[in-house]
Amino acid sequence: MKILVVGSGGREHALVRAIKKSSKVEKIYCCPGNGGISADAECVNIKATDIDAMVEFAVKEKIDLAVVAPDDPLAMGMVDRMNEKGIMTFGPRQNAAVIESSKVFSKNLMKDFGIPTASYEVIDNAEAAIAYIEKQNKFPVVIKADGLALGKGVIIAETMQEAKDGINSIMEDKIFGASGNKVVIEEFMTGPEVSVLAFTDGKTVKPMVSSMDHKRAYDGDKGPNTGGMGTIAPNPYYTSEVAKQCMDEIFLPTIRAMEKLGRPFKGCLYFGLMITPNGPRVIEYNCRFGDPETQVVLPLLKTDLVDIMLAIYEERLHELDIEWHDGGAACVIMASGGYPGSYPKGLPISGLNENGQLELADVTVYHAGTKKEDGSYLTNGGRVMGVTAVGSDKADALRKAYDAVGKISFENAHFRKDIGTK
Ligand code: AMP
Ligand code: GLY
Repeated sequence: MKILVVGSGGREHALVRAIKKSSKVEKIYCCPGNGGISADAECVNIKATDIDAMVEFAVKEKIDLAVVAPDDPLAMGMVDRMNEKGIMTFGPRQNAAVIESSKVFSKNLMKDFGIPTASYEVIDNAEAAIAYIEKQNKFPVVIKADGLALGKGVIIAETMQEAKDGINSIMEDKIFGASGNKVVIEEFMTGPEVSVLAFTDGKTVKPMVSSMDHKRAYDGDKGPNTGGMGTIAPNPYYTSEVAKQCMDEIFLPTIRAMEKLGRPFKGCLYFGLMITPNGPRVIEYNCRFGDPETQVVLPLLKTDLVDIMLAIYEERLHELDIEWHDGGAACVIMASGGYPGSYPKGLPISGLNENGQLELADVTVYHAGTKKEDGSYLTNGGRVMGVTAVGSDKADALRKAYDAVGKISFENAHFRKDIGTK
C-alpha cells in the first residue's frame, strides 16, 4: 500500500514509524513532514491545511490510505474530500471532527447524553459573560473559547480581574478570531489528568494504553502552558477500576451519542480526563491522536497499525484483538530556549546520526521542529524533538530517555527534568 501521513510534528513521526513496521506498506509519504521524518518517509512540502493540493497529490500518487493527523485539516473536511476521490482515510469526517473544533458542541453533547464533565454555561457576549462570573463569584473559574485556538484557548482565572481580562481578550480583542465568538464558562475541577486515545470505527471503541502529558513549561508544573513537554505511558492514576468506569460512563456513551446524532466518529478519539474526587470527568475531546501522547502510546502497540486503520475504515474494529507490549514508555521533549514564547531557529543539533537518531537500544527520537541541511540537523520550531524510550517499567523507560537526552545538544535547549515523577 501507499500511505500518506498528513502533518509535520512528533506525532506524525511516531505515526510514520508505526506504519513503517506494517508488512502491508510499500511506500510512505509525509506532507509536509520535517527533517527527521525524511529519514523514514518521503516528505513533500504541501501544507497540512491546503486541502486542494493534498487531495490532488493523493490522487496523482494513487495513495491507498491517507492518515490525517492534525486538528485543522480534520475540521476543514480533508477526510470527506479524500473519500469523495475514493481514497481510504484514517480520521473523522468534518461532521464528527466538530467534537474538538466546537467546545459548545462537545459540552452540549455531554450534557444531553449524561456524560460526566464540568458544569458550564455558554455565553455569546462579553458583558453577559462577565455578569455571569460576577454573579457566580466562584474562583478559580475556567473560560474557554468555543473554537480551535492552538491549544491556548483555555484561561483559568483566579480573580474577577483575570476573568474580565480573559473574556475581553477572547470576545472583544478576538485574539483567537471567530473561535472567540462564544465562550464556555466552566466549573474548576481538581484531580490528576489522564489522556486516553481510543480507536473507534463509530460503533466499537478500543482504548489504547493510557498516558500522562506534562503541559506546563517548567519543572513542578510551573510556567506557561505548552503543547506538551513530555509524556509517560501507562498513566499510574488510570487503574483498572477507573478504566472500567470510563468505558461505561464516558467512552461508550460518547461513541453512541455521536452515532445517534448522525456523526459517527471514525479514527482516534482522544479523551482528556480528570480523575476528580467524584469520579472521572471529561475535560475535553480531541478528534485526533495527541501530541506528545502518540510518541509513548504507539511504541507499545504490538498489533499492525495499518490493519487497525483498515478495520476502522471498513467498520469491523470488533473483529480485531489489539495487543500491547508490557512495560512503559517515556518521552522527554527538548524545546528551543524561550518556548512557548519566542525562540531562535536554525541552531545546529549535535549528537544525532545521519538518520536523526541515536544508536541506543529502545530509544527513538521523534522529530518535531527540525530541518535537515547538508546532512545535518537544525532546530526549526519550539518543540524540537521528543526523545522516547521503552522499558520494562516506567522507571526503566525514564532512565533510558533521560540518558538519551544527555547525548543530544543544541544551544539553549530546554527540557523538563521531572517527567513522570508525579
Ligand atoms: P484544554 O486545552 O481543554 O486541554 O485545557 C488545558 C488545561 O486546562 C487542561 O489540561 C487542564 O489542566 C486545564 N483545565 C481545563 N478545563 C478545566 C476545568 N474545568 N477544571 C480544571 N482544569 C481545567
Ligand atoms: N497533548 C495534548 C494534545 O495533543 O492536545
